[in-house]
Amino acid sequence: MCGIVGAIGLNNPLEYVQKGLKMLDYRGYDSAGIGFFSNGIDIIKDVGSVEHLMSITPQNIQTNLIIGHTRWATHGSPDIRNTHPHISFNKRICLVHNGVIDNYKEIKDFLFEKGYRFYGETDSEAVANLLEYYYLEKKDVKSAIKETMSLIIGSYAIVFFTNNDPNTLYLFKNSSPLVIGVGDGFNLVASDASPLVKYTNDFIELDDFSFAVINEKEAKVFDREGNPIQAKIINKDIELISHDLKGYPHYMLKEIEEISPVINRIVNNYYINNKYQFDPQLIKDLNESDHIIFIACGTSYHVSLVGGRYFENYGKSASRFIASEWAFHPTFPGQKPFVILISQSGETADLIHCLNIIKQQNLNNLIITNTGGSTLDRNSHYSLLLHAGIEVSVASTKAYVAQTTLLALLAASLKDDYSVIDDLKHCIEVVEDIQNNYKPIIQKTAGELKDHQNIFYLGRSYDYFLSLEASLKLKEISYIHSEAIPGGELKHGPIALIEDGLPVIVFITDPTTAASMRGNIEEVKSRGAKVYVISTRSLSQQGDTIIVNDYAPYLSSVAISTVAFYLAYYVALAKGLNVDKPRNLAKSVTVE
Ligand code: M6R
Repeated sequence: MCGIVGAIGLNNPLEYVQKGLKMLDYRGYDSAGIGFFSNGIDIIKDVGSVEHLMSITPQNIQTNLIIGHTRWATHGSPDIRNTHPHISFNKRICLVHNGVIDNYKEIKDFLFEKGYRFYGETDSEAVANLLEYYYLEKKDVKSAIKETMSLIIGSYAIVFFTNNDPNTLYLFKNSSPLVIGVGDGFNLVASDASPLVKYTNDFIELDDFSFAVINEKEAKVFDREGNPIQAKIINKDIELISHDLKGYPHYMLKEIEEISPVINRIVNNYYINNKYQFDPQLIKDLNESDHIIFIACGTSYHVSLVGGRYFENYGKSASRFIASEWAFHPTFPGQKPFVILISQSGETADLIHCLNIIKQQNLNNLIITNTGGSTLDRNSHYSLLLHAGIEVSVASTKAYVAQTTLLALLAASLKDDYSVIDDLKHCIEVVEDIQNNYKPIIQKTAGELKDHQNIFYLGRSYDYFLSLEASLKLKEISYIHSEAIPGGELKHGPIALIEDGLPVIVFITDPTTAASMRGNIEEVKSRGAKVYVISTRSLSQQGDTIIVNDYAPYLSSVAISTVAFYLAYYVALAKGLNVDKPRNLAKSVTVE
């Protein structure tokens, strides 16, 4: 889970690397480093943030070529030895790597036999040495890449240069993203396109098991055998990948406030001229399948709980699985299942593992993702993009709403039901009202919650699914222990935890469950809980903390998740925490 940048032929390469690594530190941020060519290979690296790296980097570095890396430790602790770039044993290769090499121990053993020694614990250092071993043996870098790719097993995006060529960068990949930005008189590399957009509109997305050799004039791409490939140059909508904070203090706040335009954009993208715009073959395959299997992780898994219900509402049977659970015990309910994978990043390793199993089984599959060109987007049978714009904050917000909105449209399209369009348009008004008028009361509530150690969320049905997400968001960025409990389960155990002053946040937005939820409130209140009710106007009662306008109850996750997101945001803010980059987490979980 690391970010990579590289540049060749650029006028101010340090500026590119500095800004690029900042944009990519959502992929990890425990240490960072750069490698460049002065009289030979030179590196500067340290534990800590990209800002810290830049504070120890002389700003007058003269180099035609540079690579940079921001790390989230997997193999080896986040200390200086394990920080990238890595230099090979005989100092011929300088390399950065994102991913995990599964057989790195065997590679290390092999190299140890050949006299190689290692200064750190990373799998990446083993690859640097393996490349060097073959480079010295074959006297040719391309041959060294081919040999190395044929031996290493795992996920990797690798960029490197050699000690005797200040004019060439090499890159190769499998299962981890790598994008080339094609410029006029320069070429750039990055883990995603966001650092590149200031410099170029032309991108090459490297395919798995391909490699590229780039200098300032050209980018040549080869397959694993070393045969040249005609690389496809693609353009991207720059607005959707821009990292501009647009005056907001945090990405999370900006992304919450983008929720209403995002709902609107999805509706307008998938519903044009009074018709759904989904691939008819996709709809046919979904209709002909007898079971929908949802697989996802984290927030996206919470979306799958809601999405599964949407499909059930249209007569499909559905199961929902956490990817890391399903991957080790895959089950295939139904005679003709159709698998829907959900992933904001499109790079989640647990889900890629699942997709590989699904493909082996030859099952129809669809990825719902925010990231066009990501591994899951490119390797799934069908793909539907969210068009939500890049989500930078580690805590997923607008993507959650976008995923739910898209599933509501997709499920309705199975039966050509268009009522969801008006329901969603109405949600946009509810969200805008929350954004414009509710921040003061949410902030006040956050102030009351911030010093608690435990906070419970309660809900039933759609409100329970929303509670799960509200609770995850709170614990993720405020480090307060939190649990979401279905109202009906309280008496089956969790009520034992209710004690004097414990905050319990209750969602009541569904007429079918409202009375039972009011009963639950009495149960926890009588045991001393401090209850905060978030309700819709027609179900509200005096004393409720936050009352929002009515909407179709099945869209609870679309309409009022905004309240839950603001609440988590303001609690974390009140605690003085790093809202966008909570401890121990990374935006893109590219390791299992
Ligand atoms: O990119 P994905 O949707 O596959 O990511 C899945 C989870 O890692 C992600 O949703 C995580 O739970 C978020 N940090 C939640 O805010």
